[in-house]
Amino acid sequence: MPSLTRILSALMLLFVAACTSVPAPAGGQSQPQLRRGINVLGYDPIWEDPAKGRFQEKHFGEIRRGGFDFVRVNLHAFKHMDASGHISPAWLDRLDWIVENATEAGLSVILDEHDFNACAEDVAACRTKLTAFWSQVAPRYRNAPRSVLFELLNEPHGPLDAPTWNAMLVDLLAVVRETNPTRTVVIGPTRWNNFAELPTLRLPEDDRNILVTFHYYDPFKFTHQGASWTDMEDVSGIPFTDADRAQIGRDFDKVAEWARANNRPILLGEFGAYDKGGTPTDMRVAYTNAVAREAEARGFAWAYWQFDSDFIAWDMEKDGWVEPIHEAPIPEARYLRGASPIR
Ligand code: BGC
Repeated sequence: MPSLTRILSALMLLFVAACTSVPAPAGGQSQPQLRRGINVLGYDPIWEDPAKGRFQEKHFGEIRRGGFDFVRVNLHAFKHMDASGHISPAWLDRLDWIVENATEAGLSVILDEHDFNACAEDVAACRTKLTAFWSQVAPRYRNAPRSVLFELLNEPHGPLDAPTWNAMLVDLLAVVRETNPTRTVVIGPTRWNNFAELPTLRLPEDDRNILVTFHYYDPFKFTHQGASWTDMEDVSGIPFTDADRAQIGRDFDKVAEWARANNRPILLGEFGAYDKGGTPTDMRVAYTNAVAREAEARGFAWAYWQFDSDFIAWDMEKDGWVEPIHEAPIPEARYLRGASPIR
């Protein structure tokens, strides 16, 4: 006999889900409905040595119970390929483990090829390696559920300008379509998936199983202050202002307009504010919450950057959520953390 607390918990969960549901993205009727996701595993030693993995099987369940419905798995596969482009079998085994366990936990999974910097250094080598990657990964998951999605390349930029990227994406998509004719494929514009480049993105008109992605870290001076890999390393003390918040709405309106005009669903694949640059947590929370709410108001799925490593939502040492950062994109997080697991 279920206890009263359990019944109340279940009712509360249903209520929360109803309050937070978002409209189906235009053109995405036949695509898996992603809503709230998180980037995972990009910088985990698990890829080099499974025994050293920080991410454990239980984390898939924690993510699901924490209010997320999908993970975007950041794959740096190039360094696991041999000279002829074969991906190491051990690396592929890891990937199988991730896809299986995420799926088992009730999460959709985006397999995001994340060698964006290598791709900007040498376009010819990038084309060869990405072709090799999708020639192996696409057939491997041809029978995977529809909740497994492929993302051709994270943040094309530099010499991967619009014309170069538009030409390359058609060829990569064709490689995927040989074995996965209807799987949802995630594709974004050049300049690090900048929304302002959406009008330069050329997609095959008759392929409706595409989810268009963009990343949003504006104002960059706020989100990346203190970040060593940018030119904001020495910047500090930049606040998040009301004017910034209004700008997010205006920027997302442009994305929504493009989505309507092109009849494509949208994924905001990365957003967040750096955690080690001294930015006050309450400001990072305000920012993260604002971006997630503005995205949801326009029917965009979103994925927070990121679970572990930096910008963290989960603290591996404390073995728990970084509560304010969990609650920023998932307003009901506090309740979900306290609820008994209901499946
Ligand atoms: C990169 C990360 C970086 C993040 C925010 C991602 O696309 O892979 O290395 O931390 O963007 O700048």
